[in-house]
Amino acid sequence: MMFQGTRSDANQAFAHYLAKFQEQMADIASVLKAPDNARVFAAQAHLEVSGVGKVLLSISAPSNIAYADANSYIAALTVTEAFSDSDGNAVQRLYRQLDLLPLTSYELADLRRQFPLTQEFAESRGSRAMADHAFYLSIHHMTDFVAMMDALLAMGADPRYMTILDKGYPYTRRDRVDGWLRDTLGIKVDPYPERVASLDAHIERARGAGLKTIIFDDGGYIWPVVVEYYLNAAAEFVGIVEQTMSGIWKLDGLPLPIPVFSVAESQLKATVESYGVATAAVASIFDRLPHEKFEGRPALVVGYGRIGREVATILRERRMRVAVHDSEIVALVAAHEEGFITSRSLAHLIESHQPLLVVGAAGRGSLRGEHLSAFRKSCYLASVTSRTYEFDLEEFAEVALKVLNYDRLGHAYHLGQGVELCVLGHGMPMNFYHAESLPNRYIDLIISALLLGGVTLAQPDSGGLVAGHNLALTNTILNTSAALDTYYDWYGEPSARRELLTPGGSVPAFHAVPWAFPPQS
Ligand SMILES: NC(=O)c1ccc[n+]([C@@H]2O[C@H](COP(=O)([O-])OP(=O)(O)OC[C@H]3O[C@@H](n4cnc5c(N)ncnc54)[C@H](O)[C@@H]3O)[C@@H](O)[C@H]2O)c1
Repeated sequence: MMFQGTRSDANQAFAHYLAKFQEQMADIASVLKAPDNARVFAAQAHLEVSGVGKVLLSISAPSNIAYADANSYIAALTVTEAFSDSDGNAVQRLYRQLDLLPLTSYELADLRRQFPLTQEFAESRGSRAMADHAFYLSIHHMTDFVAMMDALLAMGADPRYMTILDKGYPYTRRDRVDGWLRDTLGIKVDPYPERVASLDAHIERARGAGLKTIIFDDGGYIWPVVVEYYLNAAAEFVGIVEQTMSGIWKLDGLPLPIPVFSVAESQLKATVESYGVATAAVASIFDRLPHEKFEGRPALVVGYGRIGREVATILRERRMRVAVHDSEIVALVAAHEEGFITSRSLAHLIESHQPLLVVGAAGRGSLRGEHLSAFRKSCYLASVTSRTYEFDLEEFAEVALKVLNYDRLGHAYHLGQGVELCVLGHGMPMNFYHAESLPNRYIDLIISALLLGGVTLAQPDSGGLVAGHNLALTNTILNTSAALDTYYDWYGEPSARRELLTPGGSVPAFHAVPWAFPPQS
C-alpha cells in the first residue's frame, strides 16, 4: 500500500498499524527502526497474530524515490509463517487494515490546497455556523468528501452527532477516506444495507443532544428511508441538501414537510458539471484501455442530454467517428445538426455503425438484451449514469453464451461468432469506478454550494426556504453567494490567483538542477 507523508506521518502510520493489529490479537515480537537522522523513515515489526501466524510489517520509501511521487512510502505485510489454525477471514481482515490507513496530515494538507473555495467558505462562516445541528450524510467516499467534512468541522459540526451512510462505490481512495472518517474523526459510518437501523440510531443520538438534523445526500438515499420507517420523526429533520438529479427524482411523490436545497438542479452546478463529468468519464475509459486504438474508429453515444452531448464532442475531438441516439426527437435533431451520425432506432444504429465503444448517458436504462443481436463486432460498453442503471445486465446475461469476469476492468458477455461485449467497470459510472468523479478543483465549487445549502438550512428561519422544493430561491442564494466570485478569482484569467498543485516546500531545496539526463544512479 502506498501513501504520502512526512517522516512523522510515516512514524504515525507505523504506530497506527501496530495498534490496529494489537486490536486483532497481535503480539509484537520485535520492532526495528532506521535511525532518526536517516533521510527517510523506515521501520519493521515482527508480530504474532492469533489465527494468522508470524507476520512482518514494514514501512519504507520506494526503492527508487526519484521515480515515485514526492514523500511516498510503501507499507507492506508478509505472513512469514502461517499457524496451523490460520483462518482465511482473519488473514483477510489483517491485510484489509493495510488499506484502511487514515489519510496522513501531509495528504490532508495537499487536499486542502485542492479546495481553496471550500476552505475560504468555511473560514468566512466562522467556527459556530454548523455547531447547533446534527448531520446525516450520504455523500460519496471520495477525497472531495474529506474536504467537505473538514469544512463542516471547521464550522463547528460535532463528529459525535454525525452519521455517514457509505454507498460502497469503489472510488480510488475510498479505504483511505473511510479510515480517516472512522479513526481520525471518530465518526459513525454505516454501510448502505444497514440504513434503517443507522437512521434509527442517529435520530436517537441527535434527539438526546437536543439537535435537529440536516441531511446531505447524493442520490436520494436518505429521505425515502425516513418516509418509509420514521415519518413520525420527520420533525427531527431541518432540511435536505441534494447533490444529484437521481436524488431529486427519488423525492417524487414522497411527503416533503421539510425544505430541499437542490444543488442538483442549480444553475451553478450546470456551469461546470457536464463537461467535467464527460471529460473525467472519457479519461477513465482511456485509462482502463491504455493500449487500445480509438482514433478513426466508430463510437456510439446513447442519450444526448447535458453529459451525453459533451461525451460525443470529446470522442469526436479524440478523432472517433461518433454516432448518437436519443429517444427524444428534439435531442436527436440537435445531434444531427451538430454533424453526428444519428438514427431513430438504436438497434439500427448499432447494426449500421458497429461501434467499438458505446457510452451510455441516458440516465434510466438504454441498452437492453434485445439490442445485443445487432452487434456483429466486439465492443466496449461504458456508462456515465449512476449506479448500474444504464445497461440491463440481467438481460445481457440471459442472451449471452457465457459471461466472463475481468475484475477491475469489468466483465464481458460472449455472444457467439467471436463477438464480445466488455462492460467496463461492471456498468458503474466510469468516473466513479476506481476513479474520483471530477477533478477536485472542479468539484470545489459544488462542495461549497452544498455547504452553503447546509449553512442556509442551519439558520433559525432556514434562510427563507420552505417545505418542499425551493429551486428559485436556491438559485438566488447560490448565484449571489461569494462562491462563483471566488471561483472566478481563482480560475478566471488574466488576474486570477494561481497556486500550483505541486509538493512545494515539502521537499528539500536544491541549488542546481536536480535532474540530469541520463539520470545519475
Ligand atoms: N457520472 C457522474 O458523475 C454523473 C453526474 C451527474 C449525472 N449523472 C448521470 O448521468 C445521467 C445523464 O445526465 P444528464 O445531465 O446528461 O441528463 P439529461 O436528462 O440531460 O440527458 C439524458 C438524455 O437521455 C435521453 N434518454 C433517456 N432515456 C433514453 C433511452 N432509453 N434511450 C435513449 N435516450 C434516452 C433523454 O432524452 C435525454 O436527452 C443522469 O441520469 C445521471 O444518472 C452522472
